Amino acid sequence: MTKRDFIAMEEWSPDDVDALLALATRCKRGEIDGGLAKKVLAMVFMDPSLRTRASMETAMYLHGGHALCLEPGKGSWAMETDLDAVMDGATVEHIIEAARVLSRYADALAVRTFPKGDDWTVEREDRTIRNFARYSDKPVINLESSRRHPCQGLADALTIREHLGDTRGKRLVLMWAWHPKALPTAVPASAAIAAAHLGMQISIARPAGYDLDPDDYRAIRALAEQRGGSLDVTDDLDGAIDGAHALYPKAWGSLLHFGNPDAERLLRADQRDWRLTSDRMRRTAGGKGIALHCLPVRRNVEIDGDVLDGPQSVVVDQAENRLHVQRALLLELVGNYSHEP
Ligand code: CP
Repeated sequence: MTKRDFIAMEEWSPDDVDALLALATRCKRGEIDGGLAKKVLAMVFMDPSLRTRASMETAMYLHGGHALCLEPGKGSWAMETDLDAVMDGATVEHIIEAARVLSRYADALAVRTFPKGDDWTVEREDRTIRNFARYSDKPVINLESSRRHPCQGLADALTIREHLGDTRGKRLVLMWAWHPKALPTAVPASAAIAAAHLGMQISIARPAGYDLDPDDYRAIRALAEQRGGSLDVTDDLDGAIDGAHALYPKAWGSLLHFGNPDAERLLRADQRDWRLTSDRMRRTAGGKGIALHCLPVRRNVEIDGDVLDGPQSVVVDQAENRLHVQRALLLELVGNYSHEP
């Protein structure tokens, strides 16, 4: 049987994504017992995490399985990702052998690998997660790569549905936020794809120079239109926020200056007003729009503390839903459970 990876949400059919979300709701309601007994998940974290690691470990435990976690360079061998590398430097273990070996021990692999290089034309190919999938005999789950964070996207979709009900015709603003560092685009791209899956009217509000990859815009627009929604891109943040049902502030770096932090810092230097404030929350639909964020969030930088602590913030629900969507994903990929509701 061909193995099935979860690298990007849009690579699964909308029906399959909806089935995952439905299963996640059943997990959350406590309707699914077991299903992962004697199953092992091998996780490779090349970059730090709180939610992703804790929720994956908990998901495996709750359904009777086991998760092991490796942090290359911190207790496991420093890992090489370049397929053509002559490994006479600091790296000791190649991802080719790592993927092959771990897939002998485990039923599924899960990998976090942020962009490391300074050339977006290379990073945009998402080679590390794709190569793990290529060399693993078992399903590979993307725990955030250069291009996508699909588990976050699933949690975003579930949370938006829980809070907004029928999402068709409802507006979500993915709003760029200032941040002291140039962050990757995987989360904002995945959030917009999640909103597209829900058939929402999506506005991406960003200052000049902060466009997502053109392929991301194409993927978001195609899925949104297929699902009855739309995509527009604007630099009018407050105009986009007026009457919106959901605001998703997120920092990301300029792809125009990828790998050039000094130029990137200059570009964003005057943009600290791109921040979610309570004034902006009041401009949402009926003043009751929801505020989303993947976390971790820089308080009073990306989102003001009173918004995060206020009744319209759903960021902790989003984080909780990471657990439930991943329970569903693991059950779907490697589990044994009753499909009957
Ligand atoms: N949202 C998210 O992926 O959180 P962590 O980086 O803490 O895993």
